Amino acid sequence: MQLSDIKTVGVVGGGTMGFGIAINFALWGYPTIISDLSADVLAGTKANINHALQLFVEGGLIGQPRADETLARITTTTDLAQLAARSDFVTEAIIERLPDKQALFKRLDELCPPHTILASNTSRLVLSDIGAHIGRQDKLVLTHYFAPPHIVPGLEVAKGPGATDETFEITCELLSSARKIPIRVRGEKSGYLLNRIQHAMAREASQLWAEGMASAEDIELGIVSTFGFRMPHEGPFLHYDLAGIWKWPEDVRNPRAIENEKLREQMLKAQPWFVDPANFEEAVEKRDREYIRRLKELYWEDTDR
Ligand SMILES: NC(=O)c1ccc[n+]([C@@H]2O[C@H](COP(=O)([O-])OP(=O)(O)OC[C@H]3O[C@@H](n4cnc5c(N)ncnc54)[C@H](O)[C@@H]3O)[C@@H](O)[C@H]2O)c1
Repeated sequence: MQLSDIKTVGVVGGGTMGFGIAINFALWGYPTIISDLSADVLAGTKANINHALQLFVEGGLIGQPRADETLARITTTTDLAQLAARSDFVTEAIIERLPDKQALFKRLDELCPPHTILASNTSRLVLSDIGAHIGRQDKLVLTHYFAPPHIVPGLEVAKGPGATDETFEITCELLSSARKIPIRVRGEKSGYLLNRIQHAMAREASQLWAEGMASAEDIELGIVSTFGFRMPHEGPFLHYDLAGIWKWPEDVRNPRAIENEKLREQMLKAQPWFVDPANFEEAVEKRDREYIRRLKELYWEDTDR
């Protein structure tokens, strides 16, 4: 199987995530079928899609003809069998409840043609549980989007326990063809990769709020205006590089106290992750130019220069 064999995609669940996931595929040329439990829900799904596309047009992302074509590529049904029969790739975005997801994957496995890849958008569950009762273990993947999924470019992709490299690669190619940025996750854990990182911050923020360290407003503002401000440019690894933390004396960085052996060895090297030390100054200047552009755009737009 190759990417060109994916002609039509299905999205099961037309809620907060499903409608946006459908927009991505349809926007980039894939006829897309959405199924949900009732015609009433699907009417809401269609209305949400229409509204989101209008915002794309108003925002200058696409023109009205492209919005119309996208809308025309999307159909809805309450009949899962209809979706399954026509879909080469199905994304599940239903309620986050294991028995419901297991039952759905079992039905999809029975109803879809043998080549169809089945993807879950689960936030907390794992594929070995969701797909425990299906035959096509080789075609089970995670495609975990971030809300709003029709706008946020990155998402994480992981293999089910028996999934092949081919399934994984086609999934990544499919998402790239819809202008998404697939982040390749190698293992399986609840929350996989990015939600674990995201939730670590959310957990600490709410705990500190509960302890009375700061108001919710100040915590929010603090995150957005400090490391959140930097985040479009750098994550923790590039930050370690550009802040020059790797240059600090060993007794200040204290790498020997790190329990994980792999990480301890990495930190003992006292080297940046990505930046070539010979180009350090240049990389810092490039960062600063980017930050100044963003400072001007986000915070200084109304000041008299
Ligand atoms: N909301 C988020 O920010 C977010 C982000 C990433 C992942 N997710 C995950 O995406 C999935 C969907 O989340 P959501 O926020 O879109 O939920 P939602 O409640 O907005 O939408 C779920 C939809 O699925 C439908 N549904 C429920 N059971 C069904 C079934 N058996 N068959 C067909 N349709 C069914 C519901 O009618 C509803 O329209 C969950 O697994 C969630 O954990 C959510």
